[in-house]
Amino acid sequence: MASLSVDCGGLALRNPILSASGTFGHGLEMQHFAAPHSLGALVSKTVTLKPRPGNPHPRIAETEAGLLNSIGLENRGIEAYLRDVLPAMASADCAVVTNIGGEKVEDFAELARILHERSEVDALEVNLSCPNVQGGKLPFSTDPRVAQAVIRGVRAATNKPVFAKLSPNVTDIGDIARACEAAGADALTAVNTLLGMSVDWRTGAPGINTVMGGYSGVGIKPVALRCAWQCARAVKIPIIGCGGIGKASDVLEYLVVGCSAVQVGTSCFSDPSNIAGLAAEVASLLDARGIADVRALIGSIRAFAPSPACATAVGKA
Ligand code: FUM
Repeated sequence: MASLSVDCGGLALRNPILSASGTFGHGLEMQHFAAPHSLGALVSKTVTLKPRPGNPHPRIAETEAGLLNSIGLENRGIEAYLRDVLPAMASADCAVVTNIGGEKVEDFAELARILHERSEVDALEVNLSCPNVQGGKLPFSTDPRVAQAVIRGVRAATNKPVFAKLSPNVTDIGDIARACEAAGADALTAVNTLLGMSVDWRTGAPGINTVMGGYSGVGIKPVALRCAWQCARAVKIPIIGCGGIGKASDVLEYLVVGCSAVQVGTSCFSDPSNIAGLAAEVASLLDARGIADVRALIGSIRAFAPSPACATAVGKA
């Protein structure tokens, strides 16, 4: 059976499948659907310094091809996370990644300092890219200088692996990727949700209370894949692909464009057990093609070359 283990910025993973923040509780809530040992890592919902009630309802709306959300980083704050969540994560049979968020640059370093002390935490994912908070201000990852300042602060506070989670809602994601790498990020998660909206033409009512929200799911895969590819070309640190992943072939596509691992998110809402089978399905696909090690696929994208039949047809036209 093909080897699936990968390294993600210093974090050794038994396989390249991670849960995406905000779609899987803090991790163990879903263990009866997806055993932690079937995953490379569990990524928590974003944790902030203080509790946050989140945005007013409705804050989730289905679309033809995915989901809109405007949760607003609802969570019970770091104290409750340390007290009620982390102790149980010590027994999780996979790596544990805590996703952190903040209202200002300094909040992230403060959270990193606190979590640095906790042995249950294997890595930090820095949420630079939630589109649903900050009172209409743009997320931290839309400005390379701000993204750099956040990651620099986190880097100074911990030597645990630091992943920077980027937004697709930017002109050049490569600029942001380079800024995070320069500030000391060990890996990049590409990407968070696209900014979207929906409306009912009959009532004129938007689908969610904040009108705009984060769009995720199968509809964003081509955009997210493009972002992951651009990041992989821009930096040397590993990329964790995220966006529209629900099948083993999706996982492999992200690896081919340069990702070392992936996160599975919105598909967990419709079937939280699906993620548990992905690693075995990836191994079967690799075995069927005689690929002994999943790492052989990472970054194996090649230039487009027309097939001989296509080239002949074009030549005749
Ligand atoms: O609104 C939210 O809690 C979403 C968070 C995110 O996309 O990072």
